[in-house]
Amino acid sequence: REQRLKRQFEALEQANTFFQQQLRQSPERERAVNYLKQRGLSGQIAAAFGIGYAPPGWDNLMNHFSAVDNATELLEQSGMVIHNEEKASHYDRFRDRIMFPIRDVRGRVLGFGGRVLGDDKPKYLNSPETPTFHKGRELYGLYEARQHSNHLDRLLIVEGYMDVVSLAQHGIHWSVATLGTATTAQHLERLFKLVPEVIFCFDGDQAGRTAALRALHTTLPVIKDGQEARFLFLPDGEDPDTLVRQEGEAAFSERVTQALPLSEFFFKSLTEDADLSSMDGRARFSNTALPLIQSMQPGLLKQMMMDRICEITGLSLEQLGSVIDLHQVTQP
Ligand code: UTP
Ligand code: MN
Ligand code: MN
Ligand code: MN
Ligand code: MN
Repeated sequence: REQRLKRQFEALEQANTFFQQQLRQSPERERAVNYLKQRGLSGQIAAAFGIGYAPPGWDNLMNHFSAVDNATELLEQSGMVIHNEEKASHYDRFRDRIMFPIRDVRGRVLGFGGRVLGDDKPKYLNSPETPTFHKGRELYGLYEARQHSNHLDRLLIVEGYMDVVSLAQHGIHWSVATLGTATTAQHLERLFKLVPEVIFCFDGDQAGRTAALRALHTTLPVIKDGQEARFLFLPDGEDPDTLVRQEGEAAFSERVTQALPLSEFFFKSLTEDADLSSMDGRARFSNTALPLIQSMQPGLLKQMMMDRICEITGLSLEQLGSVIDLHQVTQP
């Protein structure tokens, strides 16, 4: 088994080298290079992220591996080749796509995200889950961020590969992206081991706002005193890539300093459609807020958020406790 995993890592590394070569050598390289240029990326940033190109065709990668024993099986296990059962044939998963290698913190390639050059669907194709690649754990750009600086103070969590790369292009080398999945508790636990502060910065659209609310709910039970989570909301229609390209590093960084602290986003989002002017509204709001606060780790932030509920309801902790089980809350 060890041996098999080792071979898979080697195959993924070799595939990565191949895709990077293709960006320089493929007959289609001009289209690929122009695409990257048009997205504002320099050769230097593309190289730092190991960006490559999978040329059109069904078997470029398989042919590149033709000298390797059991190459088809190896590539299939690594998620690079698809087995068509009906036709009893195999073909390259990634064709005519810009390739973003996803590396673990040690720099090993675990898989890829591949973007079409035009408007075809799906826009991004990701490696499937394999024995070596778990999307709920890995973060795109974490290896590169740590390569750039061995002392990170904070990390920005964004949605997409292009957001991470484009931010780096504009001097912001401290962002990571989840891999087409929601932010998980595992992601957050990993991040908080590395930095005391994370800032969620999702797209300025409905999906991005929903992702922020989900991230809030995932963060509440995980975050501890001494750690900070904040939420940065972008103007409608913008994502970190489009915005940093438009306004540059300084203006974008200024936005980051204005990001909402977790507690503020919490109360803002919960009071948005609550009527706190009526007793009934305040009771209803508190009913929603209390269990969420109770799910938090014991500590100062939790206590202060409880106090806020006391202010809103006009009830003391003891009075709240006599109605709702606050067992966990009052424990220090
Ligand atoms: P977006 O649709 O916001 O893409 O998806 P984007 O990064 O802004 O794309 P560009 O700027 O046009 O290149 C954000 C992320 O969601 C995942 C990818 O991880 C992508 O980076 N995604 C999106 C997929 O996995 N598949 C898709 O078809 C689309
Ligand atoms: Mn097979
Ligand atoms: Mn989006
Ligand atoms: Mn986007
Ligand atoms: Mn985008």
